[in-house]
Amino acid sequence: MASLLWTACLTFLLLATVTKGTPPKNAVDVPFGRNYAPTWAFDHIKYFNGGSEIQLHLDKYTGTGFQSKGSYLFGHFSMHIKMVPGDSAGTVTAFYLSSQGNEHDEIDFEFLGNRTGQPYILQTNVYTGGKGDKEQRIYLWFDPTKEYHAYSVLWNTYQIVFFVDDVPIRVFKNSKDLGVRFPFNQPMKIYSSLWNADDWATRGGLEKTDWAKAPFIASYRGFHVDGCEASVNAKICESQGKQWWDQKEFQDLDAAQYRRLRWVRSKYTIYNYCTDRVRLPTLPRECKRDRDI
Ligand SMILES: *[C@@H]1O[C@H](CO)[C@@H](O)[C@H](O)[C@H]1NC(C)=O
Repeated sequence: MASLLWTACLTFLLLATVTKGTPPKNAVDVPFGRNYAPTWAFDHIKYFNGGSEIQLHLDKYTGTGFQSKGSYLFGHFSMHIKMVPGDSAGTVTAFYLSSQGNEHDEIDFEFLGNRTGQPYILQTNVYTGGKGDKEQRIYLWFDPTKEYHAYSVLWNTYQIVFFVDDVPIRVFKNSKDLGVRFPFNQPMKIYSSLWNADDWATRGGLEKTDWAKAPFIASYRGFHVDGCEASVNAKICESQGKQWWDQKEFQDLDAAQYRRLRWVRSKYTIYNYCTDRVRLPTLPRECKRDRDI
């Protein structure tokens, strides 16, 4: 009887820790096909370890991409990616969330390749109601081609946070009070793709893709999805406050996270639309908040 109680107790503890927001330990082993499907050029995706790891191949004929099967309204969306190594100039690897339709919302990571030994650029952007033009660009503090790193988005009704591993690199606060649109009612799918963009990606298009180096290969794992699946039950997703990403600690960054964000700002940021007065003579309203970081 005592041991039965003990087991019940342990089970409760286990469940309690899982629901607090740490993804299950085997999250990186989830096979691709459980949550994702190829979008185009199916033969340019290669599968390993029972589908828990995949590669996207880009050659002179085509790039390729994949998307989530479900659509999600809020959550924490993460992907472990090892970027195209060596000469990746002209290539772009993207990981993003997007809704459908012409007034769509979108949350973007775009990794712009470079010549061997030259740094990648990570460009982020947010679209609300079909309007983007909110680019930020940073260099990374590591070589993204050497190991897997987690790139993730936290999206709740309070904020959208972009993370590189545990480091918040960008926050887009819900600034409804300032009259700024915030994605809140259009479910999004998760997408990733690898393609040729040598008309703009590397040094503004000066460096072209060297097709003699093809195929260009980006590797992926971590196909677990922690979001509210609107394609299954939209009603549940709209009732706020129940999911772990709605809880107090995810409604704003904490002091340590703001410190890390400021570190990224001061050391690695190379472009911020909020400070580009040439392109945007009137400061976008949400930038007031961006300045206070
Ligand atoms: C590529 O390397 C050049 C030279 O170091 C640098 O100016 C540029 O920002 C790098 N990244 C991209 C994507 O162009």
